[in-house]
Amino acid sequence: MDLGLKNRAAIVAASSTGLGRAIAETLAAEGVHLALCARDNARLQSTAADLARTYGIPVWARALDVTDSPAVTDFVQAAAEKYGRLDICVSNAGGPPAAPFAQTTLGQWRAACELNLISHVAFAQAALPLMQKRQWGRFLMITSMSVKQPIENMVLSNTVRAAVLGLTRSLANEYGANNILVHNLGPGYTLTDRLRQLAKGRAAAGAGTEAAILAEWAGRTALGRLGEPREFAAAAVFLCSELASYITGQTLLVDGGMYRGL
Ligand SMILES: NC(=O)c1ccc[n+]([C@@H]2O[C@H](COP(=O)([O-])OP(=O)(O)OC[C@H]3O[C@@H](n4cnc5c(N)ncnc54)[C@H](OP(=O)(O)O)[C@@H]3O)[C@@H](O)[C@H]2O)c1
Repeated sequence: MDLGLKNRAAIVAASSTGLGRAIAETLAAEGVHLALCARDNARLQSTAADLARTYGIPVWARALDVTDSPAVTDFVQAAAEKYGRLDICVSNAGGPPAAPFAQTTLGQWRAACELNLISHVAFAQAALPLMQKRQWGRFLMITSMSVKQPIENMVLSNTVRAAVLGLTRSLANEYGANNILVHNLGPGYTLTDRLRQLAKGRAAAGAGTEAAILAEWAGRTALGRLGEPREFAAAAVFLCSELASYITGQTLLVDGGMYRGL
């Protein structure tokens, strides 16, 4: 199946590891030219070098924090200048800390808004005008399945990410006429460093062993297992492809059937 992505230029944010890296790798396998970012420069450059070597495509990477909006703007401009175009932007970030409401501080609420809402706005502000110029674009935001079904002990994520649904629909409506498709992707329990850290945190709080916690999470899905990052990435890359040209404004959960609603 030809996804029609060869030689397109894509930004994948927060992509030195985990879901972002898996999306970058799946795009690289389709011949997409990449611009990556994350905070830790050594790990980021190592990922970039790996992907360039394995897939023979150009990969450019710059260390930045996605909550630094001027740095995001600069990065998007520089990526578009490097490749002479920007076709795809996957806006991703780390997650907020796990906590029940009573243990959260106002500072954590503000930080979660910056990390999991404003960062998407900053990428959209910089990327969408560049896509408009060529009348083709794909803008994807990564949230969580919690936008449909809140997860216990994750009130910051449950609340802040829900706003991204409004942003997704609004951008899809405003930019559809420019042939720019906008989506929100919600991962369920997917085996990355972040998930292992969350399980470690629960184990430290006395909820059982890390392995038992991961098994319990797997048991919440219809498929009875945790997701692999490449399974999440496959859905993201399909939505970036030519084949998905009549789909926009969607929230797609890649959660192994964890969401139980209609
Ligand atoms: N995995 C799951 O099961 C799951 C489920 C629901 C939602 N999610 C959400 O999906 C997103 C990705 O998750 P993941 O599992 O891939 O996480 P991960 O394994 O922790 O990877 C996070 C990636 O983002 C980068 N990053 C983190 N904070 C950043 C920042 N402020 N600025 C720039 N880069 C940053 C990290 O590199 P540096 O640390 O070097 O910056 C790393 O490359 C997160 O928002 C997470 O909460 C994940």
